[in-house]
Amino acid sequence: MAEAFDFDEVINRREVPALKTHRMVLGEDGMDLFPGGVADMDFRAPQPVLDAMTQRLAHGVFGYETVPDGLLPALTGWMKDRHGWNIVPDHILRAPNVLNSLSMAANLFTNPGDGIIVQPPVFFDFADIIAENGRCLVENPLVLSAGKYDMDFEGLEACAADPRTKMLFLCNPHNPVGRVWSKEDLARLGAICRQHGVFVVADEIHGDITFSGHAYTPFATVSEADAINSITCLSPAKSFNIAACCGAFTIVPDEGRRNAFKAENSRLTVNKNNAFASVAMEAAYRQGGPWLDAAVSYIEGNLALVLARLNDIPEVTLITPEGTFLLWLDFRALGLAQDDLTRFLRTEAGWAITRGIAFGEAGKGFGRLNIACQRARLDQALDGLDAAISKR
Ligand SMILES: Cc1ncc(COP(=O)(O)O)c(C=O)c1O
Repeated sequence: MAEAFDFDEVINRREVPALKTHRMVLGEDGMDLFPGGVADMDFRAPQPVLDAMTQRLAHGVFGYETVPDGLLPALTGWMKDRHGWNIVPDHILRAPNVLNSLSMAANLFTNPGDGIIVQPPVFFDFADIIAENGRCLVENPLVLSAGKYDMDFEGLEACAADPRTKMLFLCNPHNPVGRVWSKEDLARLGAICRQHGVFVVADEIHGDITFSGHAYTPFATVSEADAINSITCLSPAKSFNIAACCGAFTIVPDEGRRNAFKAENSRLTVNKNNAFASVAMEAAYRQGGPWLDAAVSYIEGNLALVLARLNDIPEVTLITPEGTFLLWLDFRALGLAQDDLTRFLRTEAGWAITRGIAFGEAGKGFGRLNIACQRARLDQALDGLDAAISKR
């Protein structure tokens, strides 16, 4: 019998200091806005994860620990079964979170002033990390054509050929435009980077969340040469809604770079075990599969709802996603400047979503909507948008 999961259950996220509901969701008149911003889910984590954490809590002693023996095999088993990637256990390093690994990679494998390529519109923290590490942002914008974003390989070649460019931050699948990059795309990107000595940092945190007909290809599986010329940042945080547990993995196939990472982890003392993160991650990878499949299919149902409702709102266009629970909406037909658009969405539609401009200039006039929420709440939010646009 199929297990039942209740993604319609409303959970008050204000009971904890959730970023999504603490930030930006009170309207100017104190009204509750629809919290469609921060990239996490409004769903309770899988029951096996909750059980594992409860059991760990009941033990009652939280002295220093080492990483549990079962954790890395749980990760390698998951990646092999789900995504066909045989990760060599020795290549895995624990990390506190994915962004920490990106920042460390920039710091370890490039010099101040070196260029790091990003492909906007892309997750805004990439640009922050590059700036905060004193590196230069090199933008190779994606190209939007016929409602779909693609990589600009000629632009990429030009960026990579600049001798000051040393690294590329890859977002696979791509937040916010929802592309699940094909093996061909990744192979082309990998070849350009190798030819020009550009090291690839693959952020694959959204890899588990892909829609029917689209499969995530880990960059490191494209070829052995690409694996060696890259690190991959993985985490169950998005897939199982456990971001606040703070746990991630960095896969570093090249031995020299792995040793550099280990030394830096040691210098910064970010190599301690978090008891709750470890048991949560192990349980998620071992027993969370059915929950994840059900969650993705619920999110696909939410996507279908948005598509159907937007039929009646021709001023707003959805860039159809292939994965992630983040929708990239094109509001440019409304003809509003970015600040006016934000104000309109907040005060008229009751929406608190992420401004497109946050993802780079290419995001002007767009917005990112998170649909990993209860369907009834999403429907209500769409009522708000519909009414606000009809009233204009
Ligand atoms: C592409 C991408 N990378 C990284 C993160 C954050 O990961 P972490 O919390 O593990 O640093 C996010 C969260 O939104 C994301 O979308």
